Amino acid sequence: MGLVLQHILRKCLLFLTLHYFLTQCVSSVQRPCLDSERSALLQLKESFDLDQFASASTSAYPKFDSWKLEGQVGGDCCSWDGVECDDNTGHVIGLDLSSSFLYGSIHSNSTLFQLHHLRKLNLSDNDFNDSEIPPAIGNLSRLSQLNLSYSAFLGQIPYEVVELSKLEILDLSGNDNLQLRNPSLRSLAERLVNLKYLDLDGVNVSSMVPQSLANLSSLTYLSLRSCELHGEFPNEVFQLPNLQILRASTNKFLQGRLPEFNKNSSLEEVRLTSTGFSGELPETILNLKSLSFLGVANCSFSGQIPSWLGNLTQITTLDLGLNKFWGPIPESLFNLVNLHYISLEGNHLSGTYKLESFLNLKNLKYLQLSGNKFSLLTTPVMNVTIPKFTILALASCNLVEFPNFLSGQDELEFLDLSANKIHGFIPKWIWGLSAESLQALYLTGNLLTGFHEPTVVPPWTNLQMLDLSSNKLQGPLPIPPASIYRYSVSNNLLTGEISSMICNLPSISELDISNNSFSGMLPPCLGNLSKSLSVLNLQSNNFHGPIPQAWEKGSQLREIDLSQNELNGQIPRSLVNCSMLELLNLGNNQIEDTFPSWLGRLPELKVLVLRHNGFHGGIGKPESNEFPELQIFDLSFNKFEGGLPSHHFQRWEAMKVVDLGKLYYLQKNSGFQSPTTSWAYSIPYSMTMTKAGVVTKYEKIQDALVAIDLSSNRFEGGIPENIQILKAVQFLNLSNNLLSGPIPSSMANLTQLEALDLSQNQLSGEIPQELTQLNFLEFFNVSGNQLNGLIPQGAQFGTFESNSFEGNTGLCGKPLSKKCYPDGTSPPSTSMSQRDGGGDSWFEFGWEAILLGFGSGVVNGLVLGYYFFDPMKHKWLVSLLYMNYG
Ligand SMILES: *[C@@H]1O[C@H](CO)[C@@H](O)[C@H](O)[C@H]1NC(C)=O
Ligand SMILES: *[C@@H]1O[C@H](CO)[C@@H](O)[C@H](O)[C@H]1NC(C)=O
Ligand SMILES: *[C@@H]1O[C@H](CO)[C@@H](O)[C@H](O)[C@H]1NC(C)=O
Ligand SMILES: *[C@@H]1O[C@H](CO)[C@@H](O)[C@H](O)[C@H]1NC(C)=O
Ligand SMILES: *[C@@H]1O[C@H](CO)[C@@H](O)[C@H](O)[C@H]1NC(C)=O
Ligand SMILES: *[C@@H]1O[C@H](CO)[C@@H](O)[C@H](O)[C@H]1NC(C)=O
Ligand SMILES: *[C@@H]1O[C@H](CO)[C@@H](O)[C@H](O)[C@H]1NC(C)=O
Ligand SMILES: *[C@@H]1O[C@H](CO)[C@@H](O)[C@H](O)[C@H]1NC(C)=O
Ligand SMILES: *[C@@H]1O[C@H](CO)[C@@H](O)[C@H](O)[C@H]1NC(C)=O
Repeated sequence: MGLVLQHILRKCLLFLTLHYFLTQCVSSVQRPCLDSERSALLQLKESFDLDQFASASTSAYPKFDSWKLEGQVGGDCCSWDGVECDDNTGHVIGLDLSSSFLYGSIHSNSTLFQLHHLRKLNLSDNDFNDSEIPPAIGNLSRLSQLNLSYSAFLGQIPYEVVELSKLEILDLSGNDNLQLRNPSLRSLAERLVNLKYLDLDGVNVSSMVPQSLANLSSLTYLSLRSCELHGEFPNEVFQLPNLQILRASTNKFLQGRLPEFNKNSSLEEVRLTSTGFSGELPETILNLKSLSFLGVANCSFSGQIPSWLGNLTQITTLDLGLNKFWGPIPESLFNLVNLHYISLEGNHLSGTYKLESFLNLKNLKYLQLSGNKFSLLTTPVMNVTIPKFTILALASCNLVEFPNFLSGQDELEFLDLSANKIHGFIPKWIWGLSAESLQALYLTGNLLTGFHEPTVVPPWTNLQMLDLSSNKLQGPLPIPPASIYRYSVSNNLLTGEISSMICNLPSISELDISNNSFSGMLPPCLGNLSKSLSVLNLQSNNFHGPIPQAWEKGSQLREIDLSQNELNGQIPRSLVNCSMLELLNLGNNQIEDTFPSWLGRLPELKVLVLRHNGFHGGIGKPESNEFPELQIFDLSFNKFEGGLPSHHFQRWEAMKVVDLGKLYYLQKNSGFQSPTTSWAYSIPYSMTMTKAGVVTKYEKIQDALVAIDLSSNRFEGGIPENIQILKAVQFLNLSNNLLSGPIPSSMANLTQLEALDLSQNQLSGEIPQELTQLNFLEFFNVSGNQLNGLIPQGAQFGTFESNSFEGNTGLCGKPLSKKCYPDGTSPPSTSMSQRDGGGDSWFEFGWEAILLGFGSGVVNGLVLGYYFFDPMKHKWLVSLLYMNYG
């Protein structure tokens, strides 16, 4: 009863006269809450579990705790937490159960839908356990505010939503896999004509943006990020008179241009990052007197950066990154004193600028200039106040030294100075810069030779990412701080043994010390790291001795690359504990073992490379379900013997199905989270294998690549007919073995073959005419066999040269001379060359994929690329995203 009185009193204070008190309040004392609605609310309460993991907000608490029956009248439900009643009628008109730890399914029979008088409903930030939004929502026809954001709803948004014609606020953002198909966005826009606020971030709308959106004249807020929109964005939407916030980021196939803006526009924020918007920035942007946020990164805008942008003095965020802008940075930009965030990264801007000019923007926290064509001059900075940066990205800015103003920066979270020309020692003051805040430091691709104080463990307490790769660092392996998550020193001149201190890094997930001159034995404790390690790359060093034995159960490892060392002994059987392993590369060592068929039990293994070792013996019988995901299998240059493993072919499911791939690369998608920021990036897997007769280093491996290399062993017997079962194989190399018998015509069914090398065997008979059906075959080599008869003619066979066929006494026809006398024999030589493993598509697809694959895919629209130089493509690639969840 106390609560009821309190509630009434609170309301009554609003009324100033006693008269009012008597007339209005007495009536609400008589009818505090309707029995039927109280009972509906109580049943609603009963239908959910409380689970503190159901809500993410730090201010979440169980509002249901105050929902109980009290006294004789049963309690005034109008006083319950989150419940709002109409003063006159007592009906429940508002229900705010956001962030209330609700967990459980919700259906149309829920008593919630008996609360017909509801005008506001907020169920945001709970976990409705992948329920669909119940169609009975349509019964709540008085609703003007509906907020179901971030609540794990799934499936089709029910058609009944369009019956809520009084809706002014509709927020369905942040639900994985919600779809807006029927109703479509168009019917929503045509029926919900009173909308002021529409947020569909992350909903799969998968349609054009309807013209009818431009009729919603009350709209102030429109957010359609990550909605799979396509087609042309209607210009009229920009011109909605009341629109303040417009967000359409992360809709790759959405086209559009910025319109001419007029003076009465209310736009404050325009976010179009990662869309197909193109054209130039119109000067009428200056008419947007309230515009504070312009985010058009990763679009297709072009032209020079207009100097009039400097007149947009009220702007705080200007993100022009990752477009095709060229020419100089206009001086006028340095007038934008309110800027908090500016990104010009990844354009083609040129010229030479003083870093100081940017430091005059006193409010700047985020400065991203990486990946252009200009040079930054560092001058010793005068005794002036300098902005304290959070994010500073100055990759490939032709810096020759560490800018000295950095020494006063103690709030940095991200610092990227990679791909500059900074040389010499890393000064002591860098080693511990922003000691408490720094999360990621990139110094890769400079000319650094060492450290001033190498032995001290650096004092960073939150550093998770440290990349010192591709420098000229000498001396022993520097040990990173205990907070480290990813650590790379690859491509340096480091020497000495690996200290077992490396095993005292509790959080390390990715360790890359490849391409150095480390020596000695691997510390046995490396295996113990496998609970946290997911990537271990020790490739191309001088390690010797055995592979560490103790790989623990529960291992997180996905990539183990120990190739190009001098490791010997056997493969430790405990590797089978690495059940998430996708790539195992032990190539170019001195391992002496029989075929490790037990590795077939690794359910995720995609790449197995054992080339150039001392493996021996037969392949043996297959296990019942082995290598289900295997797509790259390289046993070349060993001493395997016996028949080809034809019984195994049946088991290799991934090689049996042609998957055109998604144009991704095999990689580990990775990331870590700080309180303010999500960091995401990918680590592409690499390998070396023989491709079309040439030893090729693949810096990246396309996800659809299927290759088998059994060359340079002692395999004997025939090529099994059933090899045709491996329909997805693109590269097949059986050369330099003791294979005999005919080439099976069934190989014509390997329709994806691009390279087929059967050279240097004892194959006999004719080359099957059917092989001309192999439309993708670019490389074919049967030299050094005992084949005879006519070489198949036509199709791809018209493109092969005579050395593909030489060394077979009985072959005749083009490209050989008709008389079938080959002129001289020269077996294919193996030469080192570096060739590209794939196309340009990683940039376009892999990057988007990470963005979409991360969380709900809804990000604030600020993107930070980390640039690294791809020696294969001679271009800069973006590998890191910075996502600031709003
Ligand atoms: C959540 O959904 C799963 C799968 O449909 C179901 O098994 C489980 O019982 C549901 N939990 C609750 C609390 O509704
Ligand atoms: C409500 O409907 C769901 C699904 O139709 C059903 O599983 C559940 O038992 C129903 N609950 C009640 C209280 O009738
Ligand atoms: C919702 O409305 C439908 C008709 O549109 C009706 O059949 C149903 O009983 C109503 N549900 C509730 C809970 O009032
Ligand atoms: C929906 O509710 C959440 C609280 O969980 C809030 O942050 C968000 O702003 C609300 N949406 C609208 C449109 O008010
Ligand atoms: C719930 O959503 C409504 C809008 O739908 C909003 O006004 C209200 O502030 C939200 N509640 C909370 C606690 O954020
Ligand atoms: C979105 O919906 C379309 C059409 O149903 C579908 O093709 C696409 O795969 C969906 N996207 C996602 C990410 O689920
Ligand atoms: C920008 O501002 C300068 C000085 O305030 C002014 O002279 C110039 O005309 C303005 N330019 C535009 C395009 O408005
Ligand atoms: C810089 O300013 C600080 C205080 O603002 C002062 O203590 C210091 O002496 C100045 N240094 C120089 C070189 O002027
Ligand atoms: C290719 O496969 C089909 C069906 O599996 C089979 O009928 C055909 O004979 C095969 N072709 C050759 C050349 O073996």
